[in-house]
Amino acid sequence: MTTEKKLYIKTYGCQMNVYDSERISDALAPEGYSVTTDENQADLVLLNTCHIREKAAEKIYSELGRMKQLKLKKPELKFGVAGCVAQAEGQEIINRQPMVDLVVGSQAYHRLPEMMKNVDDGGKPVEIDFPTEDKFDHIKRSKARRKLPSAFLTVQEGCDKFCAFCVVPYTRGAEVSRPAQKIIDEAKHLVDLGVVEINLLGQNVNAYHGQGADGEWTLARLIRELAKIDDLKRIRFTTSHPNDMDDDLIAAHGDTEKLMPYLHLPVQAGSNKILKAMNRRHTAEGYLKLIDRIRAARQDITLSGDFIVGFPGETEKDFQDTLDLCEQVRYGQAYSFKYSTRPGTPAAELDQVEEAEKADRLRRLQTMLTGHQMDFQLSMVGKVLPVLLEKPARDPGQLVGKSEYLHAVHMDAKPELVGKIVQAKVTRTERNSLGAKIVNIS
Ligand code: SAH
Ligand code: SF4
Ligand code: F3S
Repeated sequence: MTTEKKLYIKTYGCQMNVYDSERISDALAPEGYSVTTDENQADLVLLNTCHIREKAAEKIYSELGRMKQLKLKKPELKFGVAGCVAQAEGQEIINRQPMVDLVVGSQAYHRLPEMMKNVDDGGKPVEIDFPTEDKFDHIKRSKARRKLPSAFLTVQEGCDKFCAFCVVPYTRGAEVSRPAQKIIDEAKHLVDLGVVEINLLGQNVNAYHGQGADGEWTLARLIRELAKIDDLKRIRFTTSHPNDMDDDLIAAHGDTEKLMPYLHLPVQAGSNKILKAMNRRHTAEGYLKLIDRIRAARQDITLSGDFIVGFPGETEKDFQDTLDLCEQVRYGQAYSFKYSTRPGTPAAELDQVEEAEKADRLRRLQTMLTGHQMDFQLSMVGKVLPVLLEKPARDPGQLVGKSEYLHAVHMDAKPELVGKIVQAKVTRTERNSLGAKIVNIS
């Protein structure tokens, strides 16, 4: 018999970590762990970490420092570090913070039950290998009913592109696609649990090339197959690389109704000189042509992107090229960052742009991006949109859901409407969300 224990997981970084945290809790469920949202109740605290920018890793050490208080109150409490910082730093984490009992890299979650036994015997296991087996094969999905009607599903992991600034190829390893049937089975299982929207995940999701019944499948083929699941209403995917947008995937945006009109397609910069130095292997013109083709397939599609300002060698003129590109695309939403030096990546060796300059460029870029986002949100006011209601909102009596374009939309609605797609008229726009009124419950 296993004894009842509580697991508290704090998740940092990208959506793949959110998905992995769910699978970590699935992996530990047979060992008697159930998830708590209260760190004071925990018998095991796991930090599922991100290594993408310098501050991300430093946050982990300060969080561990703060959590020492919990250990003082409950000496038998165990601490683990998972995810991309774990993968990158391994044993070093325990050397720097001896309170940590285990370190598990992003590809070794199926080993957690065994590692916990080791911890209970007084060990301090560190697992950061890239095993050849599929980490998800050995983890059974918990049967618990899902709380949210929208779920992530990892279909591809890792990256072989080696952009000069990025740690992902080192923390997630080489690109691997999961077999199509396993994904379809998992999607059906999620739908049986009440999920109506699936967001397919991968660091380069559109490079998907998993084994299907008749050879390798592309992402478009996988999406068309998933669209056949009756009670699955919405399909999304993220994150895509411009060089992997094939014709069929572009066409799918025009002909597959369940595929949502929102595409996250990071370009990083608008200057060809900088794109080359970043090893992105595409030009600004090539990217803009691609956007034209995507918009020709689905005229109302919303584009979203990622930007890095202050990459080594970026001049004011290069930065202007980024602003010009944004002005042309007019993203519905975007993420932008100051370049952060990552030891071990090629760009770390180059001459760096001054911090004040980076901060100034980021401010200018964000002013433009926010303006475009606001214009787009404002254009929604007065329109009736289908909204998938996801959960209670902060205001009592309200639920919050997502438009097809991925806006958060708030409205007065009864709790039993969670999981339903309603028609709602947009009445106002806030900084990062819309307000609406239900006009029809289908
Ligand atoms: N695979 C995705 C994104 C991975 S990381 C892609 O290829 O687009 C998410 C985002 O973090 C990146 O798109 C990039 O904009 C940002 N990022 C990655 N490394 C960074 C660094 N060293 N400094 C600042 N931002 C970085
Ligand atoms: Fe990082 Fe580039 Fe790979 Fe994206 S494509 S994960 S930015 S190396
Ligand atoms: Fe961060 Fe790892 Fe995701 S570095 S962005 S958690 S792949």
